[in-house]
Amino acid sequence: MPETVAAGRTWLLSGPTSSYALHVTEDDTLVNLHWGPRIAPADAEALAAAPPEAYWPFESPLDGREEYPVEGGPRFVRPALSVRDDVRRGTEWRFEGHTVAGDGELRLRFRDGGLAVTLHYRMRDDVVERWATLANEGGTPLELLRADSATWTLPHREGWRLSQLHGRWAAESRLVRSPLTYGEKVIGSRRGHTGHQHLPWVALDTDATEESGEVYGCALGWSGSWRIAVAQLPDARVQVTGGAGHDDSGLLRLAPGGSFTTPVFAGLWTDAGHGGASRAWHAYQRAYVIPDADRDRPVLFNSWEATTFDISEEQQLALARRAAAMGVELFVVDDGWFGARTSDRAGLGDWTPNPDRFPSGLRPLADRVHDFGMRFGIWVEPEMVNPDSDLYRAHPDWVQYQTGRTRTELRNQLVLNLAREDVQEYLWQRLDALLSDAPIDYVKWDFNRCFTDAGWPGDPYPQRLWVDHVHALYALLDRLRAAHPHVAFESCSGGGGRIDLGMLSRTDQVWTSDNTDPLDRLAIQHGFSQLHPARVMAAWVTDSPNTQLNGRVSTLRFRFVSAMAGVLGVGGDLTAWSEEELAEAAGWVALYKEIRPVVQHGDLYRLRPPGLAQGGPSAVQYVRGDETVVLAWLEAQRYGEPVPAVRLRGLDPTAAYECRETGEIHRGAVLLHHGLPTGLRGDLDAAVVRLRRV
Ligand code: DGJ
Repeated sequence: MPETVAAGRTWLLSGPTSSYALHVTEDDTLVNLHWGPRIAPADAEALAAAPPEAYWPFESPLDGREEYPVEGGPRFVRPALSVRDDVRRGTEWRFEGHTVAGDGELRLRFRDGGLAVTLHYRMRDDVVERWATLANEGGTPLELLRADSATWTLPHREGWRLSQLHGRWAAESRLVRSPLTYGEKVIGSRRGHTGHQHLPWVALDTDATEESGEVYGCALGWSGSWRIAVAQLPDARVQVTGGAGHDDSGLLRLAPGGSFTTPVFAGLWTDAGHGGASRAWHAYQRAYVIPDADRDRPVLFNSWEATTFDISEEQQLALARRAAAMGVELFVVDDGWFGARTSDRAGLGDWTPNPDRFPSGLRPLADRVHDFGMRFGIWVEPEMVNPDSDLYRAHPDWVQYQTGRTRTELRNQLVLNLAREDVQEYLWQRLDALLSDAPIDYVKWDFNRCFTDAGWPGDPYPQRLWVDHVHALYALLDRLRAAHPHVAFESCSGGGGRIDLGMLSRTDQVWTSDNTDPLDRLAIQHGFSQLHPARVMAAWVTDSPNTQLNGRVSTLRFRFVSAMAGVLGVGGDLTAWSEEELAEAAGWVALYKEIRPVVQHGDLYRLRPPGLAQGGPSAVQYVRGDETVVLAWLEAQRYGEPVPAVRLRGLDPTAAYECRETGEIHRGAVLLHHGLPTGLRGDLDAAVVRLRRV
């Protein structure tokens, strides 16, 4: 159980292996003392008592030390907080006091006139959650130009390296690791959603390997525009500042009596390398973030790649029949079932079944799917509207737009202004009715374009739209989940465009990428796993040649083993699969169900990364109790070289392990130090190996 110890103006939060210490000086400056291995309260007090370092007049006595740098005074770093009223800007706060809640949450309260600033710290295992509350307790309005969630301070070290997850549509979450240099590295999104371009996460290390060395990680829980700035200051100190909004999309007005609570920015220290950091992040999300994380996610079928917009009840039934025979547990009808949605040019906003395609609504299909023994799901994209829709014709002012400017269409759609209460109410009514009218068990919630015209004519403070959109989205999801507790939700945004801790706290899984090519997916999944667990990482087996992106031909074996690294789904046109393929697929689905508890709830070890110059193999291993599962992939065998055995991790060297595939008994020490032969050969080969401790 994490603990919080207060000693005067010094606080120490400790998890199982790490500690975080901070101190308010006599002149009310809040400084970081320690973030790293577990220390004792006396250590924190010794750090607090250390004399201040000397500084030159052109430098700052505060930069690089403060927990939440405000604007103004002798500071030259990026402020986490920038506030103005009618006469001045900046903050000079006084410390007011602290409280420690029952769960160990530390709250530090500061005041500058009418502005009350509360900084929150909560340790959950070895993850420190930080956020801030800004409240206007005065009589005049304030404007928050910037209110970040937190600034993280790293210790003095030589040669920091920055890891980030970058991408674009169909190429999300690819890991990049590069030296950090002086100045600032800023990542984020100006798009109104988390974005495909960066996951809101960074990691910093100097010499960590996959399984050893210090790693610091920071992950933001916000699903709109955001910004994380990693600064290496002139004296080589490193700080990471992040929060909601990018440029002025974080602007907010605080009327008297108003308040704003930032999203959580979570931080993690470990000395167990990048793999240890990932396992700690995964455990944290399964324990504290993801709803019902201890439940297995079912194997789903999704119709998108099979039928795109050309759907009918009969054809979906034909797919459902084959999916059920294969062992699929959840059948999801993707886009095209509602309104006039026969292409991406019409229908978004009209959330009633298309009468030509589903003359009696969705219930008959849902009932048949249930008869087949599967759950039933649908696709929606509630935050959007096509101009060619009944909703837009009735309410052209319900979208984001600027007076006298073009309403930019992307994928022929506009963004609804979810900050409007009438829009919120409409969406609640429609979606609640939809989930009440047919037995729907699952909702894939999509978001297929960025904000471009984020205006709100007539509203006195339209800038609030950026933040209020996200809050309205969260409120709608929370309300729907409360009213329909048996319904599971998937977060999708043209693939992985909205994946963050905020979305993960109210959805059951995420659509990782529209890229279903099994080879590309290995790199996307490798990056995704740096932060998020397999339990939420949806992956489908689709057709070969790959229809969406590259025409690559691959075996069912390779496609299945690639997708089995996460929450397995099937998304191919099953009506075109041969009887042999369907039978083989059923075997893979059955195997996945056996290994599912280990994959979805076990500890992940990345044994060898994808994209190795020698063509592989790459491999991951999941460990849960006495069970171990290894998934291995060979991209291309070169020069007839023998494919190396894969060294396992997380096993007991003194124990023996039985291979479920061959019946062979392996010694733990041999698996750890010499490796497991995989039998892979040729191009795009893959293997699943199950081991059980005997
Ligand atoms: C984008 C999603 O990522 C796809 O899986 C699919 O649902 C389409 N949208 C439907 O329009």
